[in-house]
Amino acid sequence: MFSRRRFLRSVATVPVFLPAAKRTLQQFHFLESPQSISWAAEPDKLTPGEAAYWKKVRSDFLIPSDEAFFNTATLGSMPRSVVEAFTTSATELAATVAHWDYKPEHPDWFTGYRNYPVLMGKLAKLIHCDPDEVCTTQNATFGMNFIAQGIDLQAGDEIVQTDQEHPGGSCGWLERAKRHGAVYRKVELPSPPNDPDEIVRRFAAVINSKTRVLAVPHMTSMLGIVLPVKRLTALAREKGARHVFVALDGAQAIGHIPLDMRDLGCDAYFSSPHKWLLAPAGSGLLYIKRDRQKEIWTTLASAAWADMDKGAYRFMQYGTGNLSVLKGYEAAIDYHENLGPDRVTRRIKQLGDYLRGEIQNIKGTTILSSVHPEMCAGITTWRVEGVSGEAMVDTFWNNRKIRVRSMGGKNGVRQSTHIYNNEAEIDSMLVLARELAAQQGEVSKGE
Ligand SMILES: Cc1ncc(COP(=O)(O)O)c(C=O)c1O
Repeated sequence: MFSRRRFLRSVATVPVFLPAAKRTLQQFHFLESPQSISWAAEPDKLTPGEAAYWKKVRSDFLIPSDEAFFNTATLGSMPRSVVEAFTTSATELAATVAHWDYKPEHPDWFTGYRNYPVLMGKLAKLIHCDPDEVCTTQNATFGMNFIAQGIDLQAGDEIVQTDQEHPGGSCGWLERAKRHGAVYRKVELPSPPNDPDEIVRRFAAVINSKTRVLAVPHMTSMLGIVLPVKRLTALAREKGARHVFVALDGAQAIGHIPLDMRDLGCDAYFSSPHKWLLAPAGSGLLYIKRDRQKEIWTTLASAAWADMDKGAYRFMQYGTGNLSVLKGYEAAIDYHENLGPDRVTRRIKQLGDYLRGEIQNIKGTTILSSVHPEMCAGITTWRVEGVSGEAMVDTFWNNRKIRVRSMGGKNGVRQSTHIYNNEAEIDSMLVLARELAAQQGEVSKGE
């Protein structure tokens, strides 16, 4: 228990200067031996074998052992092998750039002018499509804009989105609507978002024969709701205009839940693998189904902008880029494949379910995310009633170096569970959550 004074002190937004900030880069060198786990309790929810496995996985990460990082939905932490691939490539390029003779057999040392077939092959395998249907971009925002800016739209065509879009999933569509007289329509998602049928019904009430574009998140940004996108895609084909184009915003999905483009049936899909796939920042993915590619103009046009034969490659004509990012990106896919995508998803969800189950038992808290088994995974947005998201963030970090992300005021905090998290970290956070809720209960009783 902590006192009212200490509670008030802990929620004040005073900048704290942490020892971590003073650590030298050398201490984070990838060859350094893993630090031992210092979380008090060993997770008793797992078999000893599972606990040992995930403890070993935790040692693949550079996050100090006394810090708990629950903000993967913003940016994931790269495992050592990814940091190593990224930095080795950067070092090699800096040291040996004079050896680059531009002969065809020498690999290009920057991106933006040539393809990277090995990476496209690995991405295609991971998301179940053909290599010429996928290309790399910088992030989901690029992917959304490449589709939104590249598609032909007539005045009166309707674009359908949800009321919970991230700007990186929606602003290109808003711009197109304004510039070209398209009609922008928003479907309000239910709150709490626990009924997939209700979501489909709400879309069915809006999609009609003028619907030219359905552009929705596979997983929403703020609440992490896994939308029934396969059903929504089928609905758009059934009720929308003959050439309805379905673009899914999967920024939060890759590395988090299984992805199968053939099964989803969408026309385009974009994502930010620097979140859950743990790739370097600036790693993006854009998928466009082969038979719909000709409908999308190239927005960033350079050398191969009109080369329709090479598929999605023409969307990678963005001039000189950073090969080291792509080397790290490839290493992130390898890391993910080595662990096993299904195992990763299971662990993310196991931790998310554990977190949600425990929060539901704390009086004075509310889960804003979905708790429907098909619509939740590793993102849980929740609040302690009467405590702002910012105050929760400060309480968790200042007291126990636990990093969650504020969703602003009454929207509480977004807590992402990934393979570098564990039950002991969640338990540690729950101690503070219970204290906050109890303290808040006392405050409201006294009012
Ligand atoms: C659903 C969704 N779409 C798009 C984005 C934008 O991602 P990025 O900044 O990597 O382009 C985000 C970022 O959080 C997101 O959650």
